[in-house]
Amino acid sequence: MPVALVTGASAGLGAEFARQLAGRGADLVIVARSADALHALAAELRAEHGVLVDVLPADLADDADVRRVADRLADPQRPIDLLVNNAGFGLPLQFADNPIEDEVRHLRVHVEASMRLMHAALGTMRGRGGRIVNVASVAGFLSRSTYSACKSWLIGFSRWANGEYGRDGVSVTAVCPGFVHTTFHSRMGLEAGKEGVPGPLWLDAPDVVAEALTAAARGRAVVIPSWRYKIVVAVSRLLPRSLTASVARRGRV
Ligand SMILES: NC(=O)c1ccc[n+]([C@@H]2O[C@H](COP(=O)([O-])OP(=O)(O)OC[C@H]3O[C@@H](n4cnc5c(N)ncnc54)[C@H](OP(=O)(O)O)[C@@H]3O)[C@@H](O)[C@H]2O)c1
Repeated sequence: MPVALVTGASAGLGAEFARQLAGRGADLVIVARSADALHALAAELRAEHGVLVDVLPADLADDADVRRVADRLADPQRPIDLLVNNAGFGLPLQFADNPIEDEVRHLRVHVEASMRLMHAALGTMRGRGGRIVNVASVAGFLSRSTYSACKSWLIGFSRWANGEYGRDGVSVTAVCPGFVHTTFHSRMGLEAGKEGVPGPLWLDAPDVVAEALTAAARGRAVVIPSWRYKIVVAVSRLLPRSLTASVARRGRV
């Protein structure tokens, strides 16, 4: 049975990755800070799908916690076949207005933890085979504060790593969703329905995750779920950067 480790599995896209993977028969290791939510999800998945689910509570902004998750990924006795680097959050203000410690936590969760977990996973996946999914964003194609910069790092690194480690049987896929209905925006203090985003631009987590898993199975380096956002990204590449930057100021994806 394949084993998948999913970060940020207590809510939103991460919980949906865990559900769809369990539905395909994968055993799971689920990671986030909210131990209660992880245990509830684990009980649900064991009961519904008969899979094994390990709960690994961890704060991915904390060095020691990241090391524990990396150690689990590097354990050759219990190899992981699929790593989903999904945990993440947005900051409510622009860079200079956020406390610098919040920015550092943000960088650690999105970039440093993802990088450390990929490094640990590649140690056992190379040669044996495996898949890595990095949840980025369409924001990674735009310019907007450190969130875009972090997601852009994930996209650029995934593109390179997919080619480099494909030779060793490991695919690395950056998933770049637009706005998705999850708890992401409410955690940033934005009231539901008042994010200033037109209805048709919202995606549903099950569709995003299904497209992400299909792209990973095909060994794609980058996937932009839904035709709507494929068009948004294609058009944004033709426009001047100053224009896309001013549009990007409006929303959080
Ligand atoms: N929703 C969107 O519109 C959208 C669009 C594009 C990309 N994304 C990306 O999708 C990913 C998942 O976000 P989501 O929309 O599913 O948001 P969400 O519903 O708020 O879920 C975020 C998950 O990340 C976990 N997390 C946050 N900080 C963490 C930390 N320090 N250590 C460990 N886990 C942490 C949370 O768990 P705990 O709080 O329990 O730790 C939760 O499970 C993020 O990387 C986000 O940037 C979201």
